[in-house]
Amino acid sequence: MKFRLKRQEIDKDLFIFCLNRIKQDKLVLPKAGKKIVQGMSAVLKDIEESGLPSYLRIKKLKGKLGYGVFLHPEAKPISRGALIAPYSGRVLLSPQYAGNDSDYAFALMSNLCLTREEQLKWDPSRRYHPRRLYSVDLDAHKKGNFTRFINHSETPNVEARFVKISSTSKDLPSAPFELIYVAKKMIRPGEQLLVCYEGEDKSYWGALKIKPFSMTPTTFMLDKSGEIVDLSE
Ligand SMILES: C[S@@+](CC[C@H](N)C(=O)[O-])C[C@H]1O[C@@H](n2cnc3c(N)ncnc32)[C@H](O)[C@@H]1O
Repeated sequence: MKFRLKRQEIDKDLFIFCLNRIKQDKLVLPKAGKKIVQGMSAVLKDIEESGLPSYLRIKKLKGKLGYGVFLHPEAKPISRGALIAPYSGRVLLSPQYAGNDSDYAFALMSNLCLTREEQLKWDPSRRYHPRRLYSVDLDAHKKGNFTRFINHSETPNVEARFVKISSTSKDLPSAPFELIYVAKKMIRPGEQLLVCYEGEDKSYWGALKIKPFSMTPTTFMLDKSGEIVDLSE
Protein backbone atom coordinates (compact mmCIF):
# COMPACT_ATOMS: atom_id res chain seq x y z
CA MET A 1 0.00 0.00 0.00
CA LYS A 2 1.63 3.18 -1.27
CA PHE A 3 -0.38 5.75 0.71
CA ARG A 4 0.80 5.69 4.32
CA LEU A 5 0.84 9.31 5.45
CA LYS A 6 -0.46 9.16 8.98
CA ARG A 7 -1.49 12.78 9.56
CA GLN A 8 -1.68 16.10 7.72
CA GLU A 9 1.63 17.51 6.47
CA ILE A 10 1.99 21.25 6.89
CA ASP A 11 4.94 23.64 6.82
CA LYS A 12 5.68 25.68 9.92
CA ASP A 13 4.76 29.11 8.51
CA LEU A 14 1.44 27.89 7.14
CA PHE A 15 0.72 26.19 10.45
CA ILE A 16 1.24 29.51 12.28
CA PHE A 17 -0.88 31.31 9.65
CA CYS A 18 -3.74 28.82 10.20
CA LEU A 19 -3.52 29.12 13.98
CA ASN A 20 -3.67 32.91 13.78
CA ARG A 21 -6.70 32.79 11.44
CA ILE A 22 -8.53 30.37 13.75
CA LYS A 23 -7.88 32.77 16.64
CA GLN A 24 -8.70 35.92 14.64
CA ASP A 25 -12.00 34.47 13.34
CA LYS A 26 -12.81 33.19 16.85
CA LEU A 27 -13.33 29.77 15.31
CA VAL A 28 -13.97 27.28 18.09
CA LEU A 29 -13.09 23.78 16.94
CA PRO A 30 -14.70 20.94 18.90
CA LYS A 31 -12.27 18.90 20.94
CA ALA A 32 -12.11 15.26 19.81
CA GLY A 33 -13.42 12.98 22.59
CA LYS A 34 -11.46 10.34 24.49
CA LYS A 35 -12.77 7.51 22.27
CA ILE A 36 -11.51 9.31 19.14
CA VAL A 37 -8.08 10.03 20.66
CA GLN A 38 -7.70 6.40 21.76
CA GLY A 39 -8.80 5.19 18.30
CA MET A 40 -6.26 7.51 16.72
CA SER A 41 -3.21 5.79 18.27
CA ALA A 42 -4.43 2.37 17.06
CA VAL A 43 -5.25 3.43 13.52
CA LEU A 44 -1.99 5.35 13.08
CA LYS A 45 -0.08 2.21 14.04
CA ASP A 46 -2.09 0.20 11.45
CA ILE A 47 -1.38 2.80 8.74
CA GLU A 48 2.32 2.69 9.52
CA GLU A 49 2.52 -1.10 9.57
CA SER A 50 0.17 -2.14 6.77
CA GLY A 51 -1.48 0.91 5.23
CA LEU A 52 -4.88 0.29 6.78
CA PRO A 53 -6.58 -1.57 9.66
CA SER A 54 -7.00 -5.34 9.15
CA TYR A 55 -10.82 -5.01 9.27
CA LEU A 56 -10.87 -2.80 6.13
CA ARG A 57 -10.29 -3.70 2.47
CA ILE A 58 -9.61 -1.57 -0.60
CA LYS A 59 -11.33 -2.99 -3.69
CA LYS A 60 -11.68 -1.94 -7.32
CA LEU A 61 -15.20 -1.03 -8.38
CA LYS A 62 -16.70 -0.98 -11.86
CA GLY A 63 -15.96 1.65 -14.53
CA LYS A 64 -14.61 5.02 -13.54
CA LEU A 65 -15.53 4.62 -9.87
CA GLY A 66 -12.00 3.41 -9.22
CA TYR A 67 -11.23 1.94 -5.82
CA GLY A 68 -13.42 1.98 -2.70
CA VAL A 69 -13.03 1.05 0.98
CA PHE A 70 -15.10 -1.76 2.55
CA LEU A 71 -15.57 -3.22 6.01
CA HIS A 72 -14.42 -6.85 5.91
CA PRO A 73 -17.46 -9.19 5.79
CA GLU A 74 -16.26 -11.03 8.89
CA ALA A 75 -15.33 -7.95 10.92
CA LYS A 76 -17.33 -6.55 13.83
CA PRO A 77 -19.63 -3.64 12.93
CA ILE A 78 -18.11 -0.16 13.37
CA SER A 79 -20.24 1.75 15.82
CA ARG A 80 -21.57 5.27 15.26
CA GLY A 81 -19.07 7.92 16.35
CA ALA A 82 -16.01 5.63 16.03
CA LEU A 83 -12.92 7.05 14.38
CA ILE A 84 -12.13 5.75 10.90
CA ALA A 85 -8.82 7.69 10.54
CA PRO A 86 -7.45 11.19 10.05
CA TYR A 87 -7.86 12.36 6.43
CA SER A 88 -4.20 13.00 5.71
CA GLY A 89 -2.51 14.93 2.92
CA ARG A 90 -0.51 18.07 2.23
CA VAL A 91 -1.95 21.34 3.58
CA LEU A 92 -1.65 24.01 0.86
CA LEU A 93 -2.73 27.62 0.51
CA SER A 94 -3.90 28.72 -2.96
CA PRO A 95 -6.16 31.27 -4.71
CA GLN A 96 -9.72 30.07 -4.27
CA TYR A 97 -11.02 30.71 -7.76
CA ALA A 98 -7.96 29.41 -9.60
CA GLY A 99 -9.57 26.17 -8.40
CA ASN A 100 -7.77 23.27 -6.84
CA ASP A 101 -8.51 20.64 -9.46
CA SER A 102 -7.37 17.72 -7.31
CA ASP A 103 -10.10 15.10 -6.79
CA TYR A 104 -8.60 14.48 -3.35
CA ALA A 105 -8.70 18.01 -1.83
CA PHE A 106 -10.82 19.27 1.07
CA ALA A 107 -11.13 23.00 1.84
CA LEU A 108 -10.20 23.44 5.50
CA MET A 109 -10.59 27.24 5.47
CA SER A 110 -11.96 29.41 2.70
CA ASN A 111 -12.74 33.05 1.80
CA LEU A 112 -9.45 34.26 3.27
CA CYS A 113 -8.00 37.68 2.34
CA LEU A 114 -4.21 37.89 2.63
CA THR A 115 -2.01 40.84 3.51
CA ARG A 116 0.54 42.06 0.94
CA GLU A 117 3.32 40.18 2.77
CA GLU A 118 1.29 36.98 2.93
CA GLN A 119 0.47 37.12 -0.80
CA LEU A 120 4.13 37.72 -1.59
CA LYS A 121 5.03 34.66 0.44
CA TRP A 122 2.39 32.19 -0.78
CA ASP A 123 1.38 33.56 -4.20
CA PRO A 124 4.42 35.48 -5.47
CA SER A 125 3.61 35.16 -9.19
CA ARG A 126 0.39 37.24 -8.99
CA ARG A 127 0.07 41.00 -8.57
CA TYR A 128 -1.11 41.92 -5.07
CA HIS A 129 -4.87 42.30 -4.78
CA PRO A 130 -6.35 42.93 -1.32
CA ARG A 131 -9.70 41.29 -2.15
CA ARG A 132 -8.46 38.14 -3.87
CA LEU A 133 -9.76 35.17 -1.90
CA TYR A 134 -7.65 32.20 -0.84
CA SER A 135 -8.34 28.82 0.69
CA VAL A 136 -6.34 26.38 2.77
CA ASP A 137 -6.80 22.91 1.32
CA LEU A 138 -5.88 19.45 2.54
CA ASP A 139 -4.84 17.56 -0.57
CA ALA A 140 -4.31 13.79 -0.65
CA HIS A 141 -3.55 13.61 -4.38
CA LYS A 142 0.17 12.85 -4.00
CA LYS A 143 0.40 11.97 -0.33
CA GLY A 144 -2.30 10.55 1.90
CA ASN A 145 -3.60 7.38 3.49
CA PHE A 146 -6.40 4.87 2.77
CA THR A 147 -9.11 7.49 3.50
CA ARG A 148 -8.36 9.02 0.08
CA PHE A 149 -10.07 5.93 -1.44
CA ILE A 150 -13.38 6.54 0.35
CA ASN A 151 -16.01 7.33 -2.29
CA HIS A 152 -18.91 9.79 -2.33
CA SER A 153 -22.57 9.30 -1.45
CA GLU A 154 -25.57 11.49 -0.69
CA THR A 155 -26.44 8.95 2.02
CA PRO A 156 -23.04 8.43 3.66
CA ASN A 157 -22.08 6.28 6.63
CA VAL A 158 -18.92 8.37 7.28
CA GLU A 159 -18.60 12.08 8.01
CA ALA A 160 -15.68 14.51 8.03
CA ARG A 161 -15.11 16.52 11.20
CA PHE A 162 -12.71 19.43 11.69
CA VAL A 163 -11.52 19.06 15.28
CA LYS A 164 -8.83 19.81 17.81
CA ILE A 165 -6.84 16.82 19.13
CA SER A 166 -5.61 17.14 22.71
CA SER A 167 -3.44 14.25 23.68
CA THR A 168 -1.37 13.49 26.72
CA SER A 169 0.46 10.61 25.06
CA LYS A 170 3.95 11.26 23.74
CA ASP A 171 3.24 8.84 20.85
CA LEU A 172 0.35 10.97 19.67
CA PRO A 173 1.17 14.65 19.21
CA SER A 174 -1.73 17.05 19.81
CA ALA A 175 -3.06 19.02 16.84
CA PRO A 176 -4.89 22.38 17.18
CA PHE A 177 -6.77 21.47 13.98
CA GLU A 178 -7.20 18.21 12.12
CA LEU A 179 -9.70 16.70 9.68
CA ILE A 180 -10.89 13.28 10.75
CA TYR A 181 -13.31 10.71 9.30
CA VAL A 182 -15.81 9.29 11.79
CA ALA A 183 -18.64 6.72 11.40
CA LYS A 184 -21.86 8.73 10.92
CA LYS A 185 -23.93 5.61 11.65
CA MET A 186 -23.25 1.97 12.33
CA ILE A 187 -21.24 0.39 9.50
CA ARG A 188 -22.09 -3.27 8.95
CA PRO A 189 -19.74 -6.02 7.69
CA GLY A 190 -19.34 -5.99 3.91
CA GLU A 191 -20.61 -2.41 3.48
CA GLN A 192 -18.73 0.26 1.58
CA LEU A 193 -17.50 3.28 3.56
CA LEU A 194 -18.91 6.43 1.92
CA VAL A 195 -18.69 10.13 2.75
CA CYS A 196 -20.45 13.15 1.21
CA TYR A 197 -17.87 15.29 -0.64
CA GLU A 198 -20.09 18.36 -0.95
CA GLY A 199 -19.86 21.21 1.51
CA GLU A 200 -22.30 24.10 1.68
CA ASP A 201 -20.93 25.58 -1.54
CA LYS A 202 -21.69 22.37 -3.51
CA SER A 203 -18.49 22.87 -5.46
CA TYR A 204 -17.04 19.36 -5.82
CA TRP A 205 -19.10 17.73 -8.59
CA GLY A 206 -19.90 21.03 -10.33
CA ALA A 207 -16.18 21.69 -10.81
CA LEU A 208 -15.61 18.17 -12.20
CA LYS A 209 -18.64 18.62 -14.50
CA ILE A 210 -19.86 15.07 -13.86
CA LYS A 211 -22.92 13.66 -12.15
CA PRO A 212 -21.89 11.32 -9.33
CA PHE A 213 -23.02 7.71 -9.45
CA SER A 214 -25.78 7.34 -6.88
CA MET A 215 -24.78 4.75 -4.30
CA THR A 216 -25.44 3.83 -0.69
CA PRO A 217 -23.23 1.75 1.64
CA THR A 218 -25.03 -1.42 0.44
CA THR A 219 -25.05 -0.78 -3.33
CA PHE A 220 -21.79 -2.72 -3.60
CA MET A 221 -21.08 -5.31 -0.93
CA LEU A 222 -17.90 -7.23 -0.22
CA ASP A 223 -18.61 -10.96 0.14
CA LYS A 224 -16.67 -13.58 2.12
CA SER A 225 -14.63 -14.65 -0.91
CA GLY A 226 -13.40 -11.05 -1.28
CA GLU A 227 -15.55 -10.36 -4.37
CA ILE A 228 -17.69 -7.26 -4.90
CA VAL A 229 -21.39 -7.99 -5.24
CA ASP A 230 -23.04 -5.31 -7.39
CA LEU A 231 -26.60 -4.71 -6.16
CA SER A 232 -27.14 -1.63 -8.35
CA GLU A 233 -28.52 -3.67 -11.26
C1 LIG B 1 -11.28 10.91 -3.27
S1 LIG B 1 -11.35 9.96 -4.73
C2 LIG B 1 -12.08 8.45 -4.16
C3 LIG B 1 -11.25 7.26 -4.52
C4 LIG B 1 -11.25 6.90 -5.99
N1 LIG B 1 -12.36 6.00 -6.28
C5 LIG B 1 -9.93 6.28 -6.39
O1 LIG B 1 -9.89 5.14 -6.85
O2 LIG B 1 -8.89 6.96 -6.23
C6 LIG B 1 -12.61 10.80 -5.55
C7 LIG B 1 -12.86 10.32 -6.96
O3 LIG B 1 -13.47 9.03 -6.98
C8 LIG B 1 -14.52 8.96 -7.94
N2 LIG B 1 -15.81 8.84 -7.23
C9 LIG B 1 -16.00 8.79 -5.89
N3 LIG B 1 -17.31 8.67 -5.60
C10 LIG B 1 -17.97 8.67 -6.76
C11 LIG B 1 -19.35 8.59 -7.11
N4 LIG B 1 -20.33 8.48 -6.21
N5 LIG B 1 -19.65 8.66 -8.45
C12 LIG B 1 -18.70 8.75 -9.39
N6 LIG B 1 -17.37 8.82 -9.12
C13 LIG B 1 -17.01 8.77 -7.82
C14 LIG B 1 -14.45 10.26 -8.72
O4 LIG B 1 -13.56 10.08 -9.79
C15 LIG B 1 -13.87 11.21 -7.70
O5 LIG B 1 -13.27 12.33 -8.28
